[in-house]
Amino acid sequence: MEAPDGISKDSALARPLGWHALQGDRALDMCGVGVCGACQFTEESNVIEKISLAKKFELILEHWSPRIVAAVNDFHVRIVKFEGPFVWHHHESEDELFLVVKGRMQLKLREGDIELNEGEFIVVPHGIEHLPVGMGEVHVLMFEPNSTLNTGTTRSERTVAEPEWI
Ligand code: NI
Repeated sequence: MEAPDGISKDSALARPLGWHALQGDRALDMCGVGVCGACQFTEESNVIEKISLAKKFELILEHWSPRIVAAVNDFHVRIVKFEGPFVWHHHESEDELFLVVKGRMQLKLREGDIELNEGEFIVVPHGIEHLPVGMGEVHVLMFEPNSTLNTGTTRSERTVAEPEWI
């Protein structure tokens, strides 16, 4: 099958798990081989792979650049490294889970600050203003609807409109 835009089927198959789900029908055409080793979109796919958070974090060199590592229905598992303060923001309709994998962070809220240590997590309900702060470099896993913009309703230089899959 000829893939659109000159993308070979091999390169399509090399995409990270879940990538095809973002591409919709176009990618489904490309990987219509029955079983696609890189895709959990087609019903025929029977490949389930474990993911090493440590290895995924090694791929991230920048701070404040969230990456998608998995999709769970309409939710993303995203990971991010950061240090120091982000920007105050809130999300109109998305709740957001922060889990500290390594390091420590503070979640500033208008009603007070909450410190999160390794292995601890918190859910910030939609509509609640928050400011994540890395106390030194921190590795954080986030679980949130795939529509979630990292800076919420606030646009800034930190805004990442389309996080990459890794
Ligand atoms: Ni947020």
